[in-house]
Amino acid sequence: MTAIVEVRDLTKRYDGEKLALKNLSFKIAAGEIIALLGPNGAGKTSLISTICGLTTMSQGKVFVSGFDVQSDYRNARSLIGLVPQELMLEPFETVMGTVSLSRGLFGKAPNPSYIRGILERLSLWDKRDSPIRELSGGMKRRVLIAKALSHEPKILFLDEPTAGVDVDLRRDMWRLVKDLQRDGVTIVLTTHYIEEAEEIADRIAVIHDGQILLIEDKNLLMKRLGKKQLLVELADPIERLPKLLEDLGIKLHNEGRGLTYTYDMEVEQTGIPEILGALKSEGIRFNDVRTEQSSLEDIFIELIKDRSV
Ligand SMILES: Nc1ncnc2c1ncn2[C@@H]1O[C@H](COP(=O)(O)OP(=O)(O)OP(=O)(O)O)[C@@H](O)[C@H]1O
Ligand SMILES: [Mg+2]
Repeated sequence: MTAIVEVRDLTKRYDGEKLALKNLSFKIAAGEIIALLGPNGAGKTSLISTICGLTTMSQGKVFVSGFDVQSDYRNARSLIGLVPQELMLEPFETVMGTVSLSRGLFGKAPNPSYIRGILERLSLWDKRDSPIRELSGGMKRRVLIAKALSHEPKILFLDEPTAGVDVDLRRDMWRLVKDLQRDGVTIVLTTHYIEEAEEIADRIAVIHDGQILLIEDKNLLMKRLGKKQLLVELADPIERLPKLLEDLGIKLHNEGRGLTYTYDMEVEQTGIPEILGALKSEGIRFNDVRTEQSSLEDIFIELIKDRSV
């Protein structure tokens, strides 16, 4: 892969605190959408801030398009757009003023049609002359995104872009992220909405306690760690499971009104024909059979749970 970001042995310790990032090394491929998942305090914002050169690192190196974010800060930073987790805006400035000023700060020549394009995409064009303080929280978040895109960055970091926004804005955001990817922009986002990562990311990184537990292609990850479950709804409840069924790994569920059977998504022999055969030979009648697939959320919860003990 062509890496746009390379993180090497990155460690971060805030003054007098425990380690916030513990010796991380990974690369972000040009053009991908990568989602950083992790509980509160895992180190997501610290990681983004360090890559963007806003927080000093304690050890290690970070390169953005080959530019060292410490010794070549200006070059590295000019390629980066950052939508911070906290809303930080000048309340008396207008939408247009805020976004145009941000472009100017990066030393880019004015480009009114580009700015108009961003504001239109974010449904902010009608609000362009409104002062920030008159906007709703969701609108302010859109302004932050417009601001981050003002200087035509090659890589966009979105730190919880959809926290506390309504369904419409979330959908708009997802569309925008996909559009930007099509335009060649690399996207790094953090989110607590796992279905969001499932929906838009190409790769998922799970961060916990300053470490990367895994970083993997989303589809492979779901296949590798995902489980499927067979659910059988019985015609008549049973009190005890016959040994034959128990030996097949079946569990009684819903106070004897149902059976469950969990199996790996990757296996070829699921064991389901044997189960149906056993139900028949034991004379157990059923009304319905269905399968469910574990979501990224189930996988994530399992991963974090294993680490917390
Ligand atoms: N400025 C700071 N000074 C001291 N400690 C900090 C500072 N910023 C973050 N930390 C600590 O670093 C650790 C990682 O915090 P960070 O904000 O990176 O987590 P996060 O994954 O972004 O969490 P959240 O999901 O809540 O946004 C936490 O233990 C936090 O208390
Ligand atoms: Mg954070």
